[in-house]
Amino acid sequence: MKLFVDTGDVAEVQKAAEWGILDGVTTNPTLIAKSGKGFKETVLKICELVPGGDISAEVVATDYDTMLKEALEIASWHPQIVVKVPLIEPGISLVKTLSDRGIRTNVTLVFSLSQALLAAKAGATFISNFVGRVDDISDDGMNAVADTVNMVNNFGFDSEVLVASVRHPLHVVQAINVGAHIATMPLKIIEMLFKHPLTDIGLKRFLADWDQAGLSIFPKS
Ligand code: G3P
Repeated sequence: MKLFVDTGDVAEVQKAAEWGILDGVTTNPTLIAKSGKGFKETVLKICELVPGGDISAEVVATDYDTMLKEALEIASWHPQIVVKVPLIEPGISLVKTLSDRGIRTNVTLVFSLSQALLAAKAGATFISNFVGRVDDISDDGMNAVADTVNMVNNFGFDSEVLVASVRHPLHVVQAINVGAHIATMPLKIIEMLFKHPLTDIGLKRFLADWDQAGLSIFPKS
């Protein structure tokens, strides 16, 4: 499964990229606004920090003509950019136009299987199923992800299923188990994926036993 970091903060991207396991970055208007920096400069810096990574950057208009102008502008900034488009009627028309032109798209704010079908049929590169926001209203957001993965596999769509609005490591485990292609999450969630108490206990014991034995890897001088 591909691992993306969900942020507009270049320092967080830098930290996530240093592990050498990052496949991409997702931004959204809220995350970019939070960064306090310019949209284009932030996205280009993120492309530089994640060579070869898929970098999603979102249009903000809601009428087809302006969305198309924004999408072509954003796509022109860097070949790693994936244009993020909300699941609204003009958005689906836009995704069809962009995919016909070979421009990669990430359809965002997807919450249902029927929405995912529309995105897949328009030729979306990524379908961003939000789970946390569904959990927030006492429903299980991972159900739509599992259904979307089945749909993509059953009908042979090229779209990849991206699990978004990830709130905790269990969402990542569930995303893996339902066969999602990508999960995007805040840096702090990625940091939690490293953690296991038995790893800490085990390493502490290894090092204590090693030290007690007075051993060294390097020849003693
Ligand atoms: O970037 C899309 C999505 O992951 C944001 O989700 O619910 O954490 O704001 P949320």
